[in-house]
Amino acid sequence: MKVSVSTIAPAELDVDLLVVPVNLAGKAEIGAAIGLSGKLFDAALSDFSAKLGETAVFYPEKKFQSPRVCLAGLGDAEDVTVEALRRAAAAAAPSTAKSGIETVGIVVPDCKDGAEAAGEALAVGFVLGHYRFDRYMTTNDQPVNVPARLVLQSSQADKQVRVGAERGKTVAEAVCQARDLVNLSPDEKTPTLLSKAIEQTAKKSGFTAVTWDKAMIEEEGMGGLLAVNRGSMEPPTFTVLEWRPDNAMNDKPIVLVGKGVVFDTGGLSLKPTKNSMDHMKADMAGAAAVVGAFQAIAKLEMPLYIVGLIPATDNRPGENAYVPGDVVKMHSGKTVEVLNTDAEGRMLLADALSYASSYRPELVIDLATLTGAAVVALGNHVAAVLTNETDGASDRVDQMQRAARTSGDRVHPMPMFEDYAEQLKSKVADLKNVGDSGAGTITAAKFLENFVSYPWIHLDIAGPAFLDSPNGYRPAGGTGFGVYLLVNFLLSRASGRKSR
Ligand code: BES
Ligand code: ZN
Ligand code: ZN
Repeated sequence: MKVSVSTIAPAELDVDLLVVPVNLAGKAEIGAAIGLSGKLFDAALSDFSAKLGETAVFYPEKKFQSPRVCLAGLGDAEDVTVEALRRAAAAAAPSTAKSGIETVGIVVPDCKDGAEAAGEALAVGFVLGHYRFDRYMTTNDQPVNVPARLVLQSSQADKQVRVGAERGKTVAEAVCQARDLVNLSPDEKTPTLLSKAIEQTAKKSGFTAVTWDKAMIEEEGMGGLLAVNRGSMEPPTFTVLEWRPDNAMNDKPIVLVGKGVVFDTGGLSLKPTKNSMDHMKADMAGAAAVVGAFQAIAKLEMPLYIVGLIPATDNRPGENAYVPGDVVKMHSGKTVEVLNTDAEGRMLLADALSYASSYRPELVIDLATLTGAAVVALGNHVAAVLTNETDGASDRVDQMQRAARTSGDRVHPMPMFEDYAEQLKSKVADLKNVGDSGAGTITAAKFLENFVSYPWIHLDIAGPAFLDSPNGYRPAGGTGFGVYLLVNFLLSRASGRKSR
């Protein structure tokens, strides 16, 4: 899909369908503003309440260039937010995805975050709204037509809108890449196949990716990753992604770590199937978010040195599987008593976090579908954010919360009080891999903190990474949560400002 910007008046814009975003306050004036009038328009407008996500398609009179108009509600807030624009553009997708519609125009409304942000949000919503995962459909009675061209109509500020729209398209395509990886059937994303997919993305986008095999993982002493892998027929992989442009502003890298459990049966502490194991192809959503973020980072040519680490394995109850009671020697040298094989994510993340120290990083961010407790606490709408209480802790969380607001990938903080670490004391080893009861998201983060020696942000994305039913511009299945969050966090860090 190509994105362009036009200053031609809406009534003269030559497109197959024109989307006109409308908020309640602007409803009365929209006809005069756009050049729409007549009986059909009046009827459409009177049936339309401008609620966020609501749409109404009608066929305007001849003097209007576009044969179809789609009114798209922005809600009743006076100030139009980027989230409203994303949702409105995505809500129009069922109308714009019909065959025969090749060129779609969207009128860019005033937005409180500015014209660039408005262009970005509309492009993001539009691309994400057209996402479908139909790889395995042999008969498809509802094929989706992705229009070849999106034209953003803006009489002023067309340059800013263009810059925003280009960035939005790039980011949204990266989100779709992450969604695809999550939605892929587990047998098509064994650790080896996942690493191949990462290498392909690297080649196509311009970053580097190097994959370690099992022998190298053994040599490096990644006991946590190897323990989880013991029940599997497939060897683990550890993929190192790197983006280091000549104009990088940082000498010490920012490291992104993604949980890459390609399927989590729970291991011998087996999960029940319904509403539990049946979602666990998404247990590599953290890895997918890191890969998607790298795609965007490279395509946007971000002036930052960034490293990605993806430990990958499945977690299965094979004959040689690790068992409750096993004591594992981790990459860092610490020992962990395994009391539940389903708490596997922290075992491999601990090794990746420990290895991350070798980069002397300025900051490490990990993303992981780590705990069911995060879903209990926060549901599907928001990820948990936690950080070690070193210098700058609250600034880091603030910065992440700002990126959450601009991206729509929402986060909510949880505490890291030392009291929670009590639960992880083992009688036979340095640590045990599960807490006793309560606050499972926090005890998981406290576990990881033992392997961290730098400023660190932990994002538990178990809730928002995968949905049973669609929500706004997020479809059922993999959502690509975290890609846009990371991109905006990194962009704001690069620009040196606290928010964009
Ligand atoms: N992958 C799961 C967490 C999860 C649950 C992700 C629901 C997405 C949706 C993780 O490996 C796990 O099983 N965690 C256990 C930890 C427990 C045994 C301490 C959990 O949350 O039940
Ligand atoms: Zn598990
Ligand atoms: Zn898991």
